[in-house]
Amino acid sequence: RSPSMRDAVLSDTSSETAELADIDWDNLGFAFLPTDYMYIMKCARDGDFSKGELQRFGNIEMTPSAGVLNYGQGLFEGLKAYRKEDGNILLFRPEENALRMRMGAERMCMPSPTVEQFVEAVKATVLANKRWIPPPGKGSLYIRPLLMGSGAVLGLAPAPEYTFLIYVSPVGNYFKEGVAPIHLIIEHELHRATPGGTGGVKTIGNYAAVLKAQSAAKAKGYSDVLYLDCLHKRYLEEVSSCNIFVVKDNVISTPAIKGTILPGITRKSIIDVARSQGFQVEERQVAVDELLDADEVFCTGTAVVVSPVGSITYMDKRVSYRDGGVGVVSQQLYSVLTRLQMGLIEDKMDWTVEV
Ligand code: COI
Repeated sequence: RSPSMRDAVLSDTSSETAELADIDWDNLGFAFLPTDYMYIMKCARDGDFSKGELQRFGNIEMTPSAGVLNYGQGLFEGLKAYRKEDGNILLFRPEENALRMRMGAERMCMPSPTVEQFVEAVKATVLANKRWIPPPGKGSLYIRPLLMGSGAVLGLAPAPEYTFLIYVSPVGNYFKEGVAPIHLIIEHELHRATPGGTGGVKTIGNYAAVLKAQSAAKAKGYSDVLYLDCLHKRYLEEVSSCNIFVVKDNVISTPAIKGTILPGITRKSIIDVARSQGFQVEERQVAVDELLDADEVFCTGTAVVVSPVGSITYMDKRVSYRDGGVGVVSQQLYSVLTRLQMGLIEDKMDWTVEV
């Protein structure tokens, strides 16, 4: 982004002068709160994205025959911005989200912004909504980039026009349990992804597909659902909104990326953090039976960060970990990752980006 655009953003927001929005910062959950600005950039099917701009946050207009509405031609991303004590704002590996969106766009026959366009757009949107970034220690600003077929189609085909949009919302903990362990149930009938399908990209349909199992699980008091592979119904895949890790002694295992599992950026970061902390990390097929004698289980994701798992129920059998308390390994990895993301420890990995 050119310096003049940054200035325009800053002067635009000068009417909303308070450093912080007037909301209850102590009770943020993971619910949508409208903020001041969103970013929009469009492009034709065979064109390139250009002329993105910030607009006041609000409803968007779209033809009822838009590709995204009719055939689900859409992707999303999720990343967070943290406010530091010194007032600086940090993003965590935003170029990884940009690259993942590009990978997904290729699978979904969509053009996508360049990594530079993506990151600059994220920065502009965060700056324009600065007063919505929670104070240090109170949460983060969740950034939601969308890429969608916004042009009209009737027969099944890629849409003729695409919209890249970013909106943001302040968030705290994802699960209602807060930082307490979550309780998972394994689903053995419904599947999230199939080989050759879209499980490995962040297409909107992957998330609609889990709602039925997730709703049933929540109605029974579980926090979320853990999916098994659809071929053998034996190997762990992921949870509706996050990746999964299993700890046994000094070894941490997580299902290998093979097209049906979302390549989480937190997943990838935790693998590196765990190795740097002296753990052995294995990316491989993890069989459901391994949950029986695991020491600890945790989930990772941008929204969930590192969430300890207190119990997993499979075919009416419940296995508990660390007596339902927070596991020491989950706690250690959570602590290192979040301190890095918040700029509280030295970023030797060069993962954080100042806005
Ligand atoms: C994220 O962790 O950012 C996601 O995109 C998952 C979503 C279901 C909240």
